[in-house]
Amino acid sequence: MIYLTRRVEFSASHVLRNPGFSDEENRKIYGECANPHGHGHNYVLEVTLGGEIDPKKGFFMNVVELKHILDEEIIGRLDHRNISVEVPYFREHVATSENIAVWIWRLLVERIDRRMLYRVRLFESSNNYVEYFGE
Ligand code: NI
Repeated sequence: MIYLTRRVEFSASHVLRNPGFSDEENRKIYGECANPHGHGHNYVLEVTLGGEIDPKKGFFMNVVELKHILDEEIIGRLDHRNISVEVPYFREHVATSENIAVWIWRLLVERIDRRMLYRVRLFESSNNYVEYFGE
C-alpha cells in the first residue's frame, strides 16, 4: 500500500451559529465565531488516497485526475464563498471544520473508490486541523 496526498487551499467565510440556540447560547458556544456577519479563513485541505502501485504505470492514481476532482468538487464549491450562506447543506448544519470535513468526504466518495479514499484533513488555521477517515 502506498499513499498519495494532494494539498489544495481555498479562502472562505462562515458563521458558527446554530439557529436552534439563542444568541446568548451561540455566543457562549462559538465565541467570536458566532458573529452573524461572518469571518474568513484560508483553509488548507489535504486529501490522502491509498492504493497498490500499478506495475506498468508506476502509480495507482493519476495526481492530475485527483487535482481535477478536488478543483471541481471542492474548490469550485467553496473558494471565495460564504460557506454558511452559499452552500445549501450548511444552511442546515453549522459550518464547523468537523462538519465541512465530513461533507467533503461525502462528495469525494462519489468520485473516488471508497477503498482508495483514506483521509480528509482540513486545516482552518496552521494550528488547528481535523481529520476524517470515513464512517
Ligand atoms: Ni471560523
